[in-house]
Amino acid sequence: MSFNPADNIQDLQYFGEFGGVNPSISDSSTYTFLAAKSMMDTFEGNLEGCYLYSRHSSPTNLYLGQALAAMEGTEAANVSASGMGAITPTLMQLCNAGDHIVSSRTIYGGTYAFLKNFAPKFGITSTFVDITSLQAIENAITNNTKVLYCESVSNPLLEVADIKALAELAKKYKLKLVVDNTFSPLQISPAKLGADVVIHSLTKFINGSSDTVGGVICGTNEFINSLKNVNDGASMLLGPVMDSLRAASILKNIRTLHIRMKKHSENAMYLAEKFEEIGLKIMYPGLKSHPQHALFTNMYNAEFGYGGILSFDAGTLEKADKLMELMQKKNLGYLAVSLGFYKTLFNAPGTGTSSEIPAEEQKEMGLSDGLIRFSIGLDNDIERTYQEMKACIQEVGIL
Ligand SMILES: Cc1ncc(COP(=O)(O)O)c(C=O)c1O
Repeated sequence: MSFNPADNIQDLQYFGEFGGVNPSISDSSTYTFLAAKSMMDTFEGNLEGCYLYSRHSSPTNLYLGQALAAMEGTEAANVSASGMGAITPTLMQLCNAGDHIVSSRTIYGGTYAFLKNFAPKFGITSTFVDITSLQAIENAITNNTKVLYCESVSNPLLEVADIKALAELAKKYKLKLVVDNTFSPLQISPAKLGADVVIHSLTKFINGSSDTVGGVICGTNEFINSLKNVNDGASMLLGPVMDSLRAASILKNIRTLHIRMKKHSENAMYLAEKFEEIGLKIMYPGLKSHPQHALFTNMYNAEFGYGGILSFDAGTLEKADKLMELMQKKNLGYLAVSLGFYKTLFNAPGTGTSSEIPAEEQKEMGLSDGLIRFSIGLDNDIERTYQEMKACIQEVGIL
């Protein structure tokens, strides 16, 4: 049976408290118990269906978690207040002082900063490697390594990780493979390819309306319960809890994710092909010129396409800045970080979302100053967008 994440979301059925087709929003921080013993049992994690306190769990957050677990094909999921609120507890839960992480070097700047600057305060160190080189990864694994960390499609260089091969490596060395799937929801299903934990920043495509931050950790029941353990669970104790009103609004948006992803992908593919044709240096996994095009094609759920993100090298930071300002002026999108909005968003990651990564390391990983990351919107007439973008590119002298 083939796995279809969109069908899994569609097949969820809700009977709200009052018969509503949307589950009622439960907006309580604390919950009553009719018997004192039930409170004790809930505290100890022994009572299903009872709620204690909303930092631990709440009905609305559980609904959203169920939808995301269905999407990723994992037993369970725990939502969090942001993507970083999912990434940091996961790594703190999996690692103790003295442990080591092997991570892709092309990851979101915040994750990189956490691993490089923050986690060492707790004795957790990381080695950053080229995730497309299995040899480099294997060479970096030590006796203390506990986690292999990557993004399925990396930020901002759009390198694609061979999740099946990484899962085999993880198994061989008894590591946990943690995959941030933020760039490729529905397209790639990392848990189905062998990842142990799948993370999303819900802030991006999944919510899709740039009105909130949010995150999720998808994994086994055992792992998700360990995160929520009142005595030693990182999510419970660090406290990055999502508000239930937000959980309800993200749950509503997730129902149109499949339609949006198809359109993001269709538009991005159109622009990538057209831009490449006129001689621009485009990075997009859907292009045959992308080094991991075949790998992506081998791994993805084809109907959702190659995703909404493309990167393009404008040559210099000056040209990139000029182009972005002009495109914003012409209402082709916003000069803004983040992704997954209905309008196109663009920024120069070297000085923006990846600015945590030191200049010489950016150079080594191929992140040039002139690189612009585009999150392509849901434009109804992408041919019109293309013509207007091309005119801007010509006006600033890139073509
Ligand atoms: C790939 C990726 N992972 C994680 C994050 C962090 O998510 P959040 O901003 O929701 O904390 C981001 C944010 O930009 C991201 O791009």
